[in-house]
Amino acid sequence: MTALRGEVDWRDSSYTERQAPVVEEILRAAAARPEVFAERTDQILADGELFRSLAPHSAYPRILMDKFVLHTEPGNGFRIRLHRFKTRLQNGGAEERVHYHKWHCSTVMLRGGYREKQFEIRKTDEAAGEALLHEDLEHSLAEGESNSLPAGRPHQVMNDSDTDPCLTLFVRGPSVMGAARIFDLERGTFYDTFDPDGQLKVGLAAMGRLDPDFH
Ligand SMILES: [Fe+2]
Repeated sequence: MTALRGEVDWRDSSYTERQAPVVEEILRAAAARPEVFAERTDQILADGELFRSLAPHSAYPRILMDKFVLHTEPGNGFRIRLHRFKTRLQNGGAEERVHYHKWHCSTVMLRGGYREKQFEIRKTDEAAGEALLHEDLEHSLAEGESNSLPAGRPHQVMNDSDTDPCLTLFVRGPSVMGAARIFDLERGTFYDTFDPDGQLKVGLAAMGRLDPDFH
């Protein structure tokens, strides 16, 4: 945690080149000492105030990926999380939509692994809500391997296993863009998403008008 605080520039626009190697080394070092995770989760469970501060940022249960926050750095800083990518039997064969995040992030596989596609944005028409994407990377990450993704780069993660969940240690930086974005590759369209409260407001405003046409 101290290293993530002191050694990383979370707002670096060249995150992948300059910061990701540092972050991934820190994550791999933590992965080599798995006892630290139980230490931290036990600490959270024993401290009601800490638990309540992290719970709103966690998300469980979810269809594709459960997220459990271990630490949030005050002041829009980084967040450390444990993720569980469910098996295909658990998620009913659901597929994550192609999306980008508004923050830089890095991750290391703790148990099992996943496949990831990354995309280049070739063209965007903001007014029309249209985007042309080109898949330019597909790779599989095995246990112990790490990976990073800069803000604004679309990706899609899949756990192809019917039986083995994938557990990862994940860290994201502060937001460096306005919103996350979800793409529909077949239609060539996109829409923006917001934080949980912001999203709820969009839905609530639409529902109040009995308008079912919102994401
Ligand atoms: Fe993602």
